[in-house]
Amino acid sequence: MNLQWYPGHMTKAKRAMQEDIKLIDVVIELVDARIPYSSRNPDIDELASGKSRMIVLNKSDLADDSATRQWIRYYEEKGVHTAAVNATKRNELKAIHSLIQKACREKIERDRRRGILNRPIRAMVAGIPNVGKSTFINSFAGKACTKTGNKPGVTRGKQWIRLNKQVELLDTPGILWPKFEDPAVGLKLAYIGSIRDELLQRVELALSFIDFIVKTYPGNLHQLYGIEEINQNTKILEEIGTVRRCLKKGEEIDFEKTAALLFDDFRHSKLGRISLETPVSETYERV
Ligand code: G4P
Repeated sequence: MNLQWYPGHMTKAKRAMQEDIKLIDVVIELVDARIPYSSRNPDIDELASGKSRMIVLNKSDLADDSATRQWIRYYEEKGVHTAAVNATKRNELKAIHSLIQKACREKIERDRRRGILNRPIRAMVAGIPNVGKSTFINSFAGKACTKTGNKPGVTRGKQWIRLNKQVELLDTPGILWPKFEDPAVGLKLAYIGSIRDELLQRVELALSFIDFIVKTYPGNLHQLYGIEEINQNTKILEEIGTVRRCLKKGEEIDFEKTAALLFDDFRHSKLGRISLETPVSETYERV
């Protein structure tokens, strides 16, 4: 995955989203449950103004349940309908149907007062790359749904998936660009693998990740690698390399390889279910 964003890419993505959004009633914004703040692009507020909104914390199977509950409460308190799911599990997406109805209640009421009955709600999925948009659309749509095809005039060229009598989903997601400006946000995006590792100083990244883990999830490194308490991050990485035999010729520790292994373990939740941010760990005033 290439996550290098240039002004050209951003302009194109933004324009596509601005066009698509005109056609829809509700934006289902997907974020990564491990970083429900850092995996958002706040420009969505402007792009989706006037539309019903939902936030779906996807990949919740990889995140810490307690942090996820805090995030749901946080966004709900801000008036955004929020749910946590694992998009690879179709049955976990059932709850999304009622959430769409809740998010669109006012619109449905308005339509009813005007005598418009049974006009389907039109939804679109949006989010930064790699949060699981395609997976979500595929699971949510399932096999049973019929594609409604192009609608002459208004929606030319667009494919809608009819989920049921009440909801139609745009089959292409809106792509938002990740926000790199805040170094803390960039770091978290890198930890979860949303910025190509080759572009980064992987060892340095691993050391800062170890710093976070030791402070926030003490015990997890011990559980996976059997490492006893060590209070120096380089030593911890070295120890992981030793335990996992990430060695160069001559038994020297291969730090690059060890860092890659550590991230692989984290991203596949072998290190446990870990959330990298909570609503109280920093100030989150956007939404
Ligand atoms: P995108 O359209 O937003 O760019 O994301 P996409 O659906 O391509 O998903 C990116 C990766 O995230 C995929 O893995 C997908 O399987 C995984 N994924 C999506 N939703 C979930 C979820 O709820 N839980 C977990 N654990 N993973 C999820 P991949 O790296 O392409 O392949 P693989 O790791 O599945 O082999």
